[in-house]
Amino acid sequence: MSQYQSLETSIMDEIAASADEAAIEAVRVAALGKKGSVSELLKGLGKMTPEERQEAGPAINGLKARVTDAITARKAELRDAAITERLARETVDVSLPVRQSPVERGRIHPISQVVDEITAIFADMGFSIAEGPDIETDYYNFTALNFPDGHPAREMHDTFFLEPDENGDRKVLRTHTSPVQIRTMEAQQPPIRIVIPGKTYRQDSDATHSPMFHQLEGLVIDKTIHVGHLRWALEEFCKAFFEVDTVTMRFRPSFFPFTEPSFEVDIQCDRSGPTVKFGEGSDWMEILGCGMVHPNVLRFGGINPDEYQGFAWGIGIDRLATLKYGMPDLRDYFSADVRWISHYGFRPLDLPTLFGGLST
Ligand code: DAH
Repeated sequence: MSQYQSLETSIMDEIAASADEAAIEAVRVAALGKKGSVSELLKGLGKMTPEERQEAGPAINGLKARVTDAITARKAELRDAAITERLARETVDVSLPVRQSPVERGRIHPISQVVDEITAIFADMGFSIAEGPDIETDYYNFTALNFPDGHPAREMHDTFFLEPDENGDRKVLRTHTSPVQIRTMEAQQPPIRIVIPGKTYRQDSDATHSPMFHQLEGLVIDKTIHVGHLRWALEEFCKAFFEVDTVTMRFRPSFFPFTEPSFEVDIQCDRSGPTVKFGEGSDWMEILGCGMVHPNVLRFGGINPDEYQGFAWGIGIDRLATLKYGMPDLRDYFSADVRWISHYGFRPLDLPTLFGGLST
């Protein structure tokens, strides 16, 4: 057997033995690659005498052509086999239900929903939204809101204090959204008409209290604002929010350092059934605190109390959500349980509007 024939036999054996596409590629490189056995033979042609070349040329070129064809054929065979094997392995059950898209499956948290609903209501009355930091100075959280130094009202709030800085000043996690009243007054001249939704913090935790909770603050300042406006705005809000035609509210005298006079507001309701109903019944439920902005607070905010007056209120958003949508335990709000959110959550593309319906 000539040198060429024995090389051809051994390459053909390797081709036949290669079991996958990687193996056949290795055979191709070993034979036809730059330094492959067949390529080396071809390079050798240049050094031969014309007579030798006349015989060796066709033999080597023939060898190359047969090896190339055999490799191409084996490659195709192996590719077909791989596809057949994959088709057998990967079966598709066409009777399975279509998987929901994230837009279908995702849910808006009830707190975000309620914030969107409240925002829609107050935006319709001409209010804008204001926001402030969760980490507040003692000044904005207490002093500028007319809490005197050492006054027991500071203790009422179960405040989370941060480590003191080099001057001994301790920042706090804001205990209410009221500090944003001062920040807004500093930044803008009256007339002011804002609502402030946001996170607030107090050291308290049980079924109806969470250490982080949400409030909505409201602030209106102008020259002739009085308690009648306060009452009207809150009644309109409650009717729109609870989606009822009438509500009866009761204003009880109360105390907050930042308002004078101050009120706590109860809303008439019926608690005899499994869920609370508003606009009917003989029970009362406290829902918010409010009052006329204290002159000292206006002064701290850089506004002249002889020229301007206004009203403010603060309401618990989590509680509003519970009252409207009936979640029994506040702690579940923040437990990140996907079963809870898929039950109580809202569809992401159903935006609350006054004309389209808040909760439908
Ligand atoms: N900041 C009060 C609290 O967290 C709530 C409040 C009461 C806010 C009366 C007000 C207000 O703006 O006028 O307990």
